[in-house]
Amino acid sequence: MLRTREIADASRHEAKQKTSRTDWAHLDLLTASLLQQVRLAVVYGGDKATDSAVLKQTRNPRSWKSYQSVAQNIADAMGRLGARNVVLIPDDMRLASRLKDERIHMAWLNTGGVQGRSSIGHAASQLEMLGIPYVGHDPLTAAVLDNKFFFKRQLLAIGIPTAPFIVWHPVSCPMDPVRHRQFARFFRDWNGGFIVKPVTGRASLHVHHVENASDLADVAMAVFDITRNDVLIEAYIPGREYCVAVAGPVVSRAGKMERLPGPFTFAGVERVLGQNERVFTSMDVTPITKERVRPLDPKVDAFVLDALDDLGATLYKEMPLKTLVRLDVRADHAGKLFVLEANPKPDLKAPDATATSLICEGLDRFSMTYDDLILSIFANRAAELLEDGGSITESLDQLLNR
Ligand SMILES: Nc1ncnc2c1ncn2[C@@H]1O[C@H](COP(=O)(O)OP(=O)(O)O)[C@@H](O)[C@H]1O
Ligand SMILES: [Mg+2]
Repeated sequence: MLRTREIADASRHEAKQKTSRTDWAHLDLLTASLLQQVRLAVVYGGDKATDSAVLKQTRNPRSWKSYQSVAQNIADAMGRLGARNVVLIPDDMRLASRLKDERIHMAWLNTGGVQGRSSIGHAASQLEMLGIPYVGHDPLTAAVLDNKFFFKRQLLAIGIPTAPFIVWHPVSCPMDPVRHRQFARFFRDWNGGFIVKPVTGRASLHVHHVENASDLADVAMAVFDITRNDVLIEAYIPGREYCVAVAGPVVSRAGKMERLPGPFTFAGVERVLGQNERVFTSMDVTPITKERVRPLDPKVDAFVLDALDDLGATLYKEMPLKTLVRLDVRADHAGKLFVLEANPKPDLKAPDATATSLICEGLDRFSMTYDDLILSIFANRAAELLEDGGSITESLDQLLNR
């Protein structure tokens, strides 16, 4: 115990000596010191059916999942990295009091919310209101990324290719989506089939391939009946499917921290589709295994890797983003890439004997372990919060005796 305290004091002292708001050469020391001092809560999705989770149960336009086991993976990694005070807390109406009771300095958001609209942004909103810094997107960015319609509009503004689309809702457009005023504009010369999906979805749930426009109304209505939310209808892009992750410039590799000149794009993989698999099968149905994910080879796949890096970096800079996303991308017959979505809370499951996650399968090429990934995400956020200089960083500054 004494030994641990001595190390903590020494590294805090060193961090104090060697860092200033603008000197990030010693970010590793600063991060190590912060890890030892910080009381961190990893927040996962609360279950509305449990006692005192909500005042009144409502709907989940976004298919609900607790993500608790991944929150545990993150907490375990933070523990291995040196964090001494890490707890798991559900995202529900008791969040504020739990944060207060546990004297939490900082949170890590691994939640899609409890219920209601734009639920992925609810925890971030609360933390903003409470004044607790967190690892995660700000509420507006989280909600925009999680809403495929708003996100695709951002993509159009940035100039990143995305499949032609319309958004449909039976109240605002009671007739057949084919008669939607935008349908002719986007699909005038289109004869390649469609994808119908929830505007806020996850893991391929309720995503359908539709061959003929005449079937769109029934399928769109079926998706609406489940989600009670806008339905996205877009052109089916028939080629290979890829993922790429993009995060901030601070990267930990084999225990060494470095700061890149721009965003870090990594973990480029191909999702291997079966012969007649048009929509990648949900990970809720078939776990992600090595057979389903092929890490891209820098030699064989150089062209597509370059294009994915470019998409990731452009999105990160132009949105702008502050923390990790995973882009899902599909190629057309000619190999042109179209961004399907950017996952604001990509799966960070630590690989085990039975399953992995899309991001972790692509880490090897960067000589990174799971713990390197978690440390990189944490260090990026810590660096940004400390650099920021706003009042929200006061508690962290105090923690480091700066
Ligand atoms: N426009 C599209 N063209 C081809 N396939 C698509 C298209 N949109 C979605 N898909 C398929 O459906 C899967 C899920 O869609 P996605 O937009 O990534 O939503 P989510 O992963 O949130 O369910 C994708 O991985 C892909 O296989
Ligand atoms: Mg997806």
